[in-house]
This record gives sequence, structure tokens and C-alpha cells, in this order.
Amino acid sequence: MTYKVGILGATGAVGQEIIHLLHERKFPFSELRLLASSRSAGKVQEYQGNSWTIEETNQSSFKDLDFCIFSAGGGQSKTFAPIAKEAGCIVIDNSSAFRMDPSVPLVVPEINPEAALTHQGIIANPNCTTAISLMGLFPLHKAFGLKSLIACTYQAVSGSGAEALQELDDQLMAWSKGKNIPPKVYPHPIAFNVIPHVDDFNDDGFTREEMKLLHESRKIMDLDDLMVNCTCVRVPVRRAHSIAITASFENAIDLSVAKEAIKAFPNVELIDNPQQLEYPMPINYSGVSSCALGRMRKTEILPNGLSFWVTGDQLWKGAALNAIQIAELLISRNSAS
Ligand code: A2P
Repeated sequence: MTYKVGILGATGAVGQEIIHLLHERKFPFSELRLLASSRSAGKVQEYQGNSWTIEETNQSSFKDLDFCIFSAGGGQSKTFAPIAKEAGCIVIDNSSAFRMDPSVPLVVPEINPEAALTHQGIIANPNCTTAISLMGLFPLHKAFGLKSLIACTYQAVSGSGAEALQELDDQLMAWSKGKNIPPKVYPHPIAFNVIPHVDDFNDDGFTREEMKLLHESRKIMDLDDLMVNCTCVRVPVRRAHSIAITASFENAIDLSVAKEAIKAFPNVELIDNPQQLEYPMPINYSGVSSCALGRMRKTEILPNGLSFWVTGDQLWKGAALNAIQIAELLISRNSAS
């Protein structure tokens, strides 16, 4: 059986990774429809000897598609997801538009695959930081019972899209020539800087990105009482997010049990040999399907406390890969209709 697949936002940073991963994972597609804005309409996308003409997204873009992965921002998702759904196309949405809608499953296939099967035409992909954090937190939750966590993120520039990556490159090049390029995408220079600000600020001083970790973690792990305190920071890393987490659990931590729980969980690696200078780093987990966890140590700052560091490719597990895994899950459970 083969499927007709669309990508809304095909020209963007995540869209390009979706094209790559659909091929790399041999996703059974018979047609690939690449959708973007009028700016890209008519341009040609080439990949491994094949070429596609980019189409401007409109009301009839979703006709006959089985799946469409949306990665063009919340505004486009709100406009086009209901239209795609009406056309009988399953939407897998990377934006935050539907994540907290109770009728829309929010899915990490390794964690809550059953939720995907309850879809009514739209399935939401979690925020990139949430997806990567949960790849470490969920197996530990299964082992010890998660109560609360404090997280600090180190978020890569490609998470802000292709334009942001260009801004980093341009500022680095300018700096090497003794020049300055004023920021456009970010509020401050990103080259040789860190910016403790991701997404808009709420009135209480937290950002929307920081609150996503709380709300989405509760929904995905079905943990209504989970407490989360997060500080999101943009760092001048091209690709792959890292998160430093200190979590408090219901039960006492046994480090060897914690390590075994990580090793037994799919698609997360334990890289935790600090004496040999081995710990996960973004440079080693860019363009890699697995996330990685290391620096695991017990802490007394919280009851039954455990600190660790988790790294993963936010364009893949935080977006493109997770979305494709959801489509694969539906296909494997015969639920793609
Ligand atoms: P386009 O390249 O035509 O602007 P990124 O996250 O890397 O910034 O990419 C955003 C993606 O969303 C791009 O593919 C972009 O297409 C697409 N996009 C932006 N605005 C629209 C729109 N109005 N309709 C359809 N796609 C859009």
C-alpha cells in the first residue's frame, strides 16, 4: 500500500528535513506534494535525482492526499488544517495551533502511541524542547514516578527557521571581518551570545515556550499534577537542542536502575562516561534519529532528585522525524483513513 503525502512549509528548515527523512526512512509514498507560499510557487525542489514543482497552498491543495505534514507556523495551520481535514487528509501539525485542543492528540510515538489512534483528522506534534526532554523524562517517570522538574534549555538557532540560521551565519562572517550585522530575526545578536528569551513573554514573566514544557508534558504523559519550572535560552548552536533537567520523583532513585531504564527505552542513548569526557553534545546529535542522555547524578536539592542532560535534533525528533513516526504508526496500525 502506498500513500499520497503533502508537506505544507516544504521550503522551510523543517520541511526540507521532512523531504529527506521520507526518503531515508523509505516512507511508502506514491506522490509527494510540496506546498509553500506564493513566494516559492513554481520553484523546483530537487532531491536524489527527482524534482517537484513547489505549489502555492490554497483551498484545493489537499485533495486526494492521505497525509499532510504541516510546518509553516500556527497561522497557516489554523487556516488550512480544517480545510485539509474536510478533504479527508490526515494533518500532522508541527505548530502549536492545536496542541492543547482536547480533541487533538498530542503524540510522541515512543510515549503515547495509543493517543494517535483516537485522532479525528488532526494530530499535533509537540514543541521541540518538550519532545526531546520527554525522551529522557518518560523512561525515568516509568521507573520512579515523576513529580516535578526544573529545566534550562540550550536551544539551537535552526529551531527558529532557515532565516535565523542565515542570520547566525551572516553575523559570524561579519564578525570575522571586524564588521557588525544588526539582528533581524532575534532581538539581539546571536553570534557569540546567548539570549534568555524564546517566544513571547507572558504577564507572569515566563515565556510561552517555557509554559509549553509544562502543559504539553502533562498532556503527553497524562500527568495532570506535574510541576515544571523552565528557562528557555537560545544559544549560537546551528542544530540540536540540549536541556539540563533536575527532576523530583515519587520513589527513591537507584542510579543503576535509572541507567537501565534509559538503555531499555527506544531511540534514546545513554552517553554517560564523564571520566572519559563522554556526554551528549549537539554536534554529535545533529542529523541523528536518537536523542541522548548523560551527566546523570543524584541530587539532594529536591526530594528523590535526579539531574541529567538530554540532547536531540530538534529538526528531527523535535519536528520532522516525530511527525513521520506518527504517520508510520498510523500506517502500521491500519489507522490511516
Ligand atoms: P516560503 O518559503 O514560500 O515562504 P521556516 O520555518 O524555515 O521559516 O519556514 C517556513 C515555511 O512556511 C516555509 O516553507 C514557508 O514558505 C512556509 N510559509 C510561510 N508563509 C506561508 C503561507 N502564507 N502559505 C504557505 N506556506 C507558508
